[in-house]
Amino acid sequence: MPTRRRPEELRSHRWFGAEDLRAFGHRSRMLQMGLAEGEFRGRPVVGIVNTWSDLSPCHQHFRTRAEEVKRGVWQAGGFPVELPAHPVTEQYMKPSSMLYRNLLAMETEELARSQPVDALVLLGGCDKTGPGLVMGALSAGLPFLFVPAGPMLRGLWRGRTLGSGSDAWKYHAELRAGRITEAEWKDMEAGIARSYGTCMTAGTAATMMLAIEAMGLSLPGAASIPAADSAHPRMAAAAGRLAVEMAWEDRTPARILSQANIDNAVAAAMAFGGSTNAIIHLIAMARRAGLSLDLARFDAISRRVPLIANLRPNGDRYLMEDFHAAGGSRAFLATLAPLLDLSARGVTGRTLAEELAGAEVFDADVIRPLDAPLQPEGGVAVLTGSLAPRGAVIKTSAADPRLLSHTGPAVVFDDIADLKARIDDPALPVTPDSVLVLRNAGPLGGPGMPEWGMLPIPRKLLAAGVRDMVRISDARMSGTSYGTCVLHVAPESALGGPLALVRDGDPIRLDAANRRLDLLVPEEELARRRAAWAPPPRRYGRGWTALYLDQVTQADEGCDLRFLEAGAPTPEPDIH
Ligand code: FES
Repeated sequence: MPTRRRPEELRSHRWFGAEDLRAFGHRSRMLQMGLAEGEFRGRPVVGIVNTWSDLSPCHQHFRTRAEEVKRGVWQAGGFPVELPAHPVTEQYMKPSSMLYRNLLAMETEELARSQPVDALVLLGGCDKTGPGLVMGALSAGLPFLFVPAGPMLRGLWRGRTLGSGSDAWKYHAELRAGRITEAEWKDMEAGIARSYGTCMTAGTAATMMLAIEAMGLSLPGAASIPAADSAHPRMAAAAGRLAVEMAWEDRTPARILSQANIDNAVAAAMAFGGSTNAIIHLIAMARRAGLSLDLARFDAISRRVPLIANLRPNGDRYLMEDFHAAGGSRAFLATLAPLLDLSARGVTGRTLAEELAGAEVFDADVIRPLDAPLQPEGGVAVLTGSLAPRGAVIKTSAADPRLLSHTGPAVVFDDIADLKARIDDPALPVTPDSVLVLRNAGPLGGPGMPEWGMLPIPRKLLAAGVRDMVRISDARMSGTSYGTCVLHVAPESALGGPLALVRDGDPIRLDAANRRLDLLVPEEELARRRAAWAPPPRRYGRGWTALYLDQVTQADEGCDLRFLEAGAPTPEPDIH
């Protein structure tokens, strides 16, 4: 039976409960805000970390969701405080929102550490915000739970359903091939994002919201609730109530999480056919929790977990609204139950077995049974070989199966500017068998490992009907993207990895079934090229980016900052 702490055992007591000059100052400033002492003293203080901003379309409902969390906190006898945090908005940040995930993590950790809070409710969802918030909260070590933003409504355009990202890529290729008009393309702008909420395909946001729930860090069933559904504010209020309970019981991540929680999150992400970004984020999150996860473990889990979520871009019909109607995240995890560790506990204090009891699938075409999956293995394969000594990944579920075993000559682009300048040049020596290579797009090279990994098909090949080719880079790609794209090549080219040594015409072999990616050039020749290689000049000398470049780890390590990974705990701030 969990023990309930006494009010004087709460962390916030050190600010508000003492009888000294500092506590006098702390209390008097709360009274300055019109609060009575009984409203905050002796109650769990719940920090609501809110990633709302005017430039975060996926989080537009967070102003009101924060109020709904507060309602729950008040109902349960706590005291809510809203703490704005970096919104890390996917749509607008250049060169990549990934450059700022760790900044949000650091901010979340420091908000928790420096302020008088006993527990946290994290409001996030748009791609990097979920992992960033959770990473920071794990390092802070206070009780917390995550409130996922939830997916937006399905897109609509000229009588067709549109999926975030996936259909933009698809129809942009049709536009470039001359198969739809500029006017039709323009119409799509108003139909592809019809409400607040995250991308509603099986992209990074949906994958991470589901993985965080599978890890036990959200309310059961929360991940799939559409943002505009009335169940969503009810979930937010319930999260507020739960945060108060977690604070009283000191239900910290260290008391909840074990290796089973991490493995369950990986299995869920793989069975969902989710974004390759999940690999980087889950490795970083596991390391923050002091637990282990590497690429080999990912691949092992992916091999034993079938892909059972029939959502775009893996399937061709359904979106997150359909997934929720089919039973949602609880039904999905219940289907996957034989492959999960059901003894894992979550923020409610209950086991996963208890949480999933009674969950039902209402449409077995959307959430497939384990014996009739969309694909027999998870959607992602980890590759190694002479071109990726520390690993690379490919989303096999979104690739053309014909290309998963392929050897072809490289067509190399030195960076994104070179790619943009030459990809549609009619004189580019490229055929459907070529292997397109982009370098200087990794954690250091991007910087921030932008989502450039779905290299565009050259226009002349598009016009000839080519829709997929083997593409290789040290970049990431959006979870809504598709194609035979090898990503996250490590070590990256800006560090002198083998990708930096590839030249036009070099044969490259991809063998996904055997998990290989090889540059078929003799080692003596590569040694000559390596000796002549010089790193690209560093372009950023100040601010966050300079700190990031000094500290960021490679893709196989989670792209965290070295000094933020799990290590010696930082002591609580002294209260004087
Ligand atoms: Fe926010 Fe896709 S842009 S989730």
